[in-house]
Amino acid sequence: MEKVLERIKELKESKNAVILAHYYVDGAIQDVADFVGDSLELARKAREVDCDIIVLCGVYFMAETAKILNPERKVLIPYYKAGCLMADMAIAEEIKEFKEKNPDYVVVTYVNSSADVKAVSDICCTSANAVKVIEAVESDKILFVPDKNLGSYIAEKVKGKEIKLWDGYCPVHQKLTPEEAERRKKENPDAVFVAHPECRKEVRDMADFVGSTSKIVKFVKETTAKKVIVGTERGIIHQLKKVRPDVEFIPAYSEFTCDQMKMITVERLLKCLETEQFEITVPEEVADKARTAIERMLEVS
Ligand code: 13P
Ligand code: SF4
Repeated sequence: MEKVLERIKELKESKNAVILAHYYVDGAIQDVADFVGDSLELARKAREVDCDIIVLCGVYFMAETAKILNPERKVLIPYYKAGCLMADMAIAEEIKEFKEKNPDYVVVTYVNSSADVKAVSDICCTSANAVKVIEAVESDKILFVPDKNLGSYIAEKVKGKEIKLWDGYCPVHQKLTPEEAERRKKENPDAVFVAHPECRKEVRDMADFVGSTSKIVKFVKETTAKKVIVGTERGIIHQLKKVRPDVEFIPAYSEFTCDQMKMITVERLLKCLETEQFEITVPEEVADKARTAIERMLEVS
């Protein structure tokens, strides 16, 4: 393992590559990365980095977003099959159809979506800025795509807007039932419970704090609790332990794992740097339209 990591560092230097990693990927990858962040931070970073190659260690839509925002760079993903399961729950044709029938609706799309879907959307958001984005949208009629859980979370926070929800969700967060969360809370009565807004409403209602991955990291940095039940993908615990080595972290259910994120392995990252596969390409017309929706988001957040 040490040798593989050393080789990754050498190749990163010699090829002038920057490794961007999401909080859910393997801890060893987070440690070798130049930057670790949530979807919003990764998008911002991808837009500003000055290098020859961006290696995005995360799921496909994150690499696609990096390419859209920084088209001059070569953008690679270590394994092209690592796709977000929720992103696959919406296709562009369905959204176009909805817009034709409902021209008065503004389509707000979670970045966990394909470039095609972003291209037919009015504005994007991430879980970190979703409330801000919806508040900034002038229309009071909104279609929120694809996460019904994040959508219902926003609807609780933003008053006076009609928010139609797409029927998508993250199977990894959806798997956390209120019963399971209750069990964990009972086992750890002195723990605080943090949850990602992709969790079901009943689970979110049981949480002491709800926020995106970066907001969870920030909350944990400042907590006085000595135990935290983590209601999101377990990869984040690697960062949480770094910021608070004195705190015990308990996954809200034992297999809180995004298998898609775990397809990004150290070995695949090395191969990616050696062979420069898999390169992300986005057709120009799609990229231009998707960029408009993403840039609008970045402007308001
Ligand atoms: P964040 O933007 O909070 O990192 O969430 C991304 C994600 O895929 C959550 O499942
Ligand atoms: Fe997609 Fe869920 Fe994995 Fe996040 S945890 S990348 S939403 S499948």
